[in-house]
Amino acid sequence: MIHFHDFHPALSDFQADILAGLKTEQKTIAPKYFYDARGSMLFDRICQLPEYYLTRTEIALLKQYGAHIADAIGPDTILFELGSGSSRKIRLLLDALRPSAYVPMDISKNHLFRSANALAKDYPWLEIHALCVDYAGAWNLPSGLNGKRRIAFFPGSSIGNLASEEAVALLKRIARLVGDDGGLLIGVDLVKDIGVLEAAYNDSQKVTEAFNKNLLVRVNREMNANFKIDRFEHRAFYNRDLDRIEMHLASELEQFIRVADELIHFNTGETIHTENSHKYSLAGFHRLALCAGFHPAKVWTDPDDLFSIHYLQTQGE
Ligand code: AVI
Repeated sequence: MIHFHDFHPALSDFQADILAGLKTEQKTIAPKYFYDARGSMLFDRICQLPEYYLTRTEIALLKQYGAHIADAIGPDTILFELGSGSSRKIRLLLDALRPSAYVPMDISKNHLFRSANALAKDYPWLEIHALCVDYAGAWNLPSGLNGKRRIAFFPGSSIGNLASEEAVALLKRIARLVGDDGGLLIGVDLVKDIGVLEAAYNDSQKVTEAFNKNLLVRVNREMNANFKIDRFEHRAFYNRDLDRIEMHLASELEQFIRVADELIHFNTGETIHTENSHKYSLAGFHRLALCAGFHPAKVWTDPDDLFSIHYLQTQGE
């Protein structure tokens, strides 16, 4: 059975955000703006690249440890997925976990409703409540979702795209969502050899470069801007001090770019910072989780220590 709940999430103000970000000392564009239709398609391709080990390693862990994960979580749960997108990874857990209800949460209504319908066909026993919400914004739980233990699922190391204080704030929200005696199953990319990390964001097919530069294509289209895409260089490198991959777009020359009605000046080599992707040690992520009120219960990693899946719990009453 499937229920749809549309909380009409406010769309962020793309134009105001872009202009404000291009006027700061270090120019920035927020990574949430990567995901227009072409950006989402490019991200799907990134997930299949040989160098981008994150997705396939997480999927392998979910396949290998699905039964262990279900044992750790226990029966009779309501399973929330934050940013559920195509609801692909959850399929690897549903048979083992057999939750009382699955609650996919996504800001993109069409994508959410399409994926939920497909899932309902394949899992006729599953009660689905699809929530169109910005999980980082304000919303209420629909009625009928009380009375069971609540577990959140947040795969893909999306937590890594947040600075640590934002990550703690989001984890605190999740802790409130799942309440006492709740849990969080979360995928987290690990600190590792810099060569492996940098290759994952500088793939040989240049899909990540196209994904990064697609931001400029989008700004040109939606803000009548005149970025010449080949005058910007894709840069992705590991920042050892902050344990994160940084992605930037670097201007190859001094130039002025028209964006809406404004002219933005770029020095040669000046960059737009487009994304951070933080990498954690197991202990480092546990510290972050503890700051948000979660207690580490279990963690699964692959033999090469590329990626981790943590199961964290809030305290019971
Ligand atoms: C969505 N997020 C976890 C990806 C990452 O690895 O930080 C986005 C991405 N950026 C470049 N490649 C993939």
